[in-house]
Amino acid sequence: MKITKICCIGAGYVGGPTMAVIAQKCPHIQVTVVDLNEQRIADWNDPNPENIPIYEPGLSEIVSEARGRNLFFSTDVDKAIDEAQMIFISVNTPTKTYGKGKGMAADLKYIELCARQIARVAKQNKIVVEKSTLPVRTAEAIKSILDNTGNGVQFQILSNPEFLAEGTAVADLLNPDRILIGGDTNQEGEEAINSLVDVYANWVSKDRILTTNVWSSELSKLTANAFLAQRISSINAMSELCEKTGADVNEVAKAIGMDSRIGPKFLKASVGFGGSCFQKDILNLVYIAKSYGLNEVADYWEQVIIMNDHQKRRFSNKIVQTLYNTVADKKIAFLGWAFKKDTNDTRESAAIYVADDLINEQAKISVYDPKVSKNKMLSDLDYLETRTGEENRSALNVFDNAYEACKDAHAIAILTEWDEFTMYDWKKIYDSMHKPAFIFDGRNILNAKQLESIGFVYNGIGS
Ligand code: UDX
Ligand code: UDX
Ligand code: ADP
Repeated sequence: MKITKICCIGAGYVGGPTMAVIAQKCPHIQVTVVDLNEQRIADWNDPNPENIPIYEPGLSEIVSEARGRNLFFSTDVDKAIDEAQMIFISVNTPTKTYGKGKGMAADLKYIELCARQIARVAKQNKIVVEKSTLPVRTAEAIKSILDNTGNGVQFQILSNPEFLAEGTAVADLLNPDRILIGGDTNQEGEEAINSLVDVYANWVSKDRILTTNVWSSELSKLTANAFLAQRISSINAMSELCEKTGADVNEVAKAIGMDSRIGPKFLKASVGFGGSCFQKDILNLVYIAKSYGLNEVADYWEQVIIMNDHQKRRFSNKIVQTLYNTVADKKIAFLGWAFKKDTNDTRESAAIYVADDLINEQAKISVYDPKVSKNKMLSDLDYLETRTGEENRSALNVFDNAYEACKDAHAIAILTEWDEFTMYDWKKIYDSMHKPAFIFDGRNILNAKQLESIGFVYNGIGS
């Protein structure tokens, strides 16, 4: 089928950027992104492209080029489904917070709602593409809903996992390592796969487009994220050992990364990984393994999460210990709240957990992040339900300037590796702080020697 109209359900961190790039690269395809959230759609349609709801380098330029030409954002989900030949599902799949699999399994209620809506609306054959990260065999569930509740039209289900990383979403979409498309192995399945291959082939060379069966594709996405997260937990485990033995984790990472079998990427020790995917996908993998009785497999992967939780807790403990075992009423300045640089996303950010620990110790936290709003930070803390919203508001102060956030602080903690942090006038910051002035560099981005020569007491990760 030659695709001329695409609909994407879910205008979030995955759906928004992905569809913007498809629209930019395929001017002959009309792309409509729909969402239930009216505010989100209004923000995507904001006349000033700088105000779109997701911050990603390069994204606002692409949106302003394609929007209104062949890229549309709308809340009319039914109309978009009806018109499209191909429907991407990019809704969120959070970890379940209730019932069976609570805290582990992916909550598929949003996916199921989408499937039912597609089944109700569709009057012609459609290709339905899973874009969200989903447990293996979700495609089967979607198919069963579509086939049994639909209007008798034919559906082909494809799995097309997204591998973009936030902060580099546009670059990753424009120049992907690979595109993975899973589908049925029969003739209809192959035809559906080929229609999606043709979409990507507008800008991705064919040797980078990989086709598999549906389950391999679904499992590859979980596996990729599990391997990536495992590398971080592995280097973070070594960081604790380095701190005890006098080795330096940056040196160790460099030395092992030069082994071509290991490779240099994704070996940065940190305060712990965050983001919407790693923890959720591993918990999901653990849950799937357990559901098949594969306890050793489940335990193996669960350790990646246990290590990551330990790394976050270790960071807050170290702050307390170093500040003479008490942070009560002390001002601790956080530089960064996002889970990584160049994004305004804070899902599962280490900063949230470190702040929560320190507030339990009665610290006063002052935060500066170049892209995260005060409301977002407070709602992240409220979500943990550790204390009342009022208590969170009195413990956490948000500044729109790093120098103000650090003024009169006893310590600074770097939680996100924003480039601008390396360019500050650190002497000026030092002069405005209580002494001794401590820095806890949870990202190893600052120059330790230079800071020490100013007078700071510097603590990095793994040295
Ligand atoms: C990840 C995958 O990289 C991407 O392929 C998938 O589609 C979605 O999940 P994302 O979570 O957006 O992407 O960002 P990523 O760059 O993977 O970083 C995840 C977390 O790991 C961040 O908190 C980051 O700071 C941390 N990290 C990353 C480290 O602590 N050290 C590293 O060396 C790399
Ligand atoms: C290893 C290290 O590779 C080497 O750098 C170090 O100096 C010594 O230890 P070696 O044990 O000789 O070298 O062989 P290696 O190729 O690493 O294989 C080790 C085992 O892993 C073998 O049993 C091999 O069959 C197995 N293996 C390796 C796998 O099962 N799968 C793989 O993908 C790779
Ligand atoms: P992701 O990182 O996976 O893109 P987000 O939470 O950023 O996750 O985006 C998912 C979007 O999907 C949200 O904007 C949410 O409102 C939207 N959504 C969820 N369920 C539906 C649905 N049934 N119909 C339309 N939009 C939906």
